[in-house]
Amino acid sequence: MKRRRLLVGAGGVLAHIAFPALAAGRDALPRMTDGPFYPSPSYRAGGVDWDADLTTVGGRDPDGQPRPRARGEHLDLWGTVQDSEGRAIDGATVEIWQCDAFGSYRHPRGAGARVDAGFQGFGSTRSDARGSYRFRTIRPVPYTGRTPHIHVKLRHPSFGEVTSQLFVAGDPGNANDFLYRSLSEAGREAVEMRPARAPAGSPVMWQAERALIVGS
Ligand SMILES: [Fe+2]
Repeated sequence: MKRRRLLVGAGGVLAHIAFPALAAGRDALPRMTDGPFYPSPSYRAGGVDWDADLTTVGGRDPDGQPRPRARGEHLDLWGTVQDSEGRAIDGATVEIWQCDAFGSYRHPRGAGARVDAGFQGFGSTRSDARGSYRFRTIRPVPYTGRTPHIHVKLRHPSFGEVTSQLFVAGDPGNANDFLYRSLSEAGREAVEMRPARAPAGSPVMWQAERALIVGS
């Protein structure tokens, strides 16, 4: 694993802090297709909520009650959109889509026998001046034939459009996934998330930082 070490002086005490290198090697997101379940703009036009919090759909139901929360293990996913030189990209549109805890996509062709009405399935945000983006979603689950993954699509005038998928590092399903297997080591480095347990009392179970690096 690529890591770098920093020597930090804190209160006169020197401490080694190891953390995943920020965009180590600047490996760009490998380009992938949309796949069959990208919710088209016309489909989304009929929806109610496509914001960056996928764990709830809409604000309140017609009776004024809060909507149910998404099933599954909630995940905070954040990071920066940056180019291969590490420069933040301001104002990139970032979209993610994934199946719900039952394996159903928010797509006319993607719904299985059970659908989690509390999961948004698709969300969109925009990177800020520092390139930062953030989603709240669920830790991805496997569905027939695929290892857990989150689809991601980015748009910005500087690079156009990039579509890829994020995977969970170390997931046992990766070894049998045709797409993951097709990636180079550098490609895997660019798309792997390493979810860590969120602190006690946090509204989510998992948190993961993932830089989204786009090639020039
Ligand atoms: Fe998928």
